[in-house]
Amino acid sequence: KITPVILSGGSGTRLWPLSRSIRPKQLLNLTADRSMLQLTAARAEDDSRFDPPIIVANEAHADEIERQLADVGIRPQSLILEPVARNTAPAIALAALSVAPDAVLLVMPSDHVIGDVQAFHAAITDALPLVEQGWLATFGIAPDGPETGYGYIKAGAELAPGIRKVDSFVEKPDRATAEAYLTEGSYAWNGGIFLFRADAYLAALAEHAPAIAEATKAAMAGATRAGPRIHPAVEAFRASPSDSIDYAVMEKADRVAVAPVNMGWSDVGSWDALHAITSRDDAGNCHHGEVIALDTNNCLFRTDGPLVAAVGVSDLIVVATDDAVLILPRGASQDVRRIVDELKRTG
Ligand code: GDD
Ligand code: MG
Repeated sequence: KITPVILSGGSGTRLWPLSRSIRPKQLLNLTADRSMLQLTAARAEDDSRFDPPIIVANEAHADEIERQLADVGIRPQSLILEPVARNTAPAIALAALSVAPDAVLLVMPSDHVIGDVQAFHAAITDALPLVEQGWLATFGIAPDGPETGYGYIKAGAELAPGIRKVDSFVEKPDRATAEAYLTEGSYAWNGGIFLFRADAYLAALAEHAPAIAEATKAAMAGATRAGPRIHPAVEAFRASPSDSIDYAVMEKADRVAVAPVNMGWSDVGSWDALHAITSRDDAGNCHHGEVIALDTNNCLFRTDGPLVAAVGVSDLIVVATDDAVLILPRGASQDVRRIVDELKRTG
């Protein structure tokens, strides 16, 4: 069986003011009446194929995560709680060290939307034989623009039906490079989902990022347990370099394969992305919460606080919570990060 590993450590700053450090993006109901984390766990719930999930998250979110999973009837096999954030390469290492070496891990971000779960499962089935032989598998998404926030995969020779060798993996290229890749045509976005044996990942990590491999090994050797909760040794984990799996391992490893998959994937990285995937009324507006919108077009209104009322506007994003209101034109939602930076600067 496959062990799902759900990464729930990100902060989702571009979805401020809804996404906050106490309640980040993956713990919010953004696209449905369930949180992104709950939807992610439900994608790998079929117990003929999957063991219960391992969740890797910041300690501060443990109670909320347990509550949300219990709410949808999911009992994780473990909850690995990081004392500090060290990015995804160490987080995945903790999970890999907590299972048998030959366990197959399905590493999933906790904050994506997948519209066609059947297509996702079919791609996993395609990749599994190679993964069992020690390949690291990624899932390739057909790109629809020169996004610079993704990894780009150049697919090479076919290794098995539906699976190609990765000729190169480039994490977050600059704009000009991303445009060149799109023109070239044989590149896919990395979906941020990985399938590999625990020992294959740990071997690649030891080869390409030995300091992370050593620190996480020490952290798990000194871990304490309480029920499903695993607390890695604090000082050992703190000593790990901070890096993502993409930079630390995927760009460098040799036996990397890609399963191209068309599964209605979105990483819901911004308010614009949410507007694009949410159902809209005839005027192109999305509403959530108590909203009155007259003569408005193509707006996103979301309130988890006061009534929001608008008249005669178009192409706006308006998000209200109890203590903050965000207003910006559609298309500019990447700039939300600047607001968050400004808030941090001014305390
Ligand atoms: N436990 C834990 N600890 N989880 C983490 C940490 C951490 O320190 N940092 C990030 N995560 C979680 C996030 O919550 C998210 O679910 C997932 O790991 C990926 O991290 P992101 O920070 O969102 O990565 P990214 O979006 O910049 O890039 C990745 O995803 C893209 C697709 O959305 C890369 O894999 C790219 O190559 C890929 O294209
Ligand atoms: Mg992301």
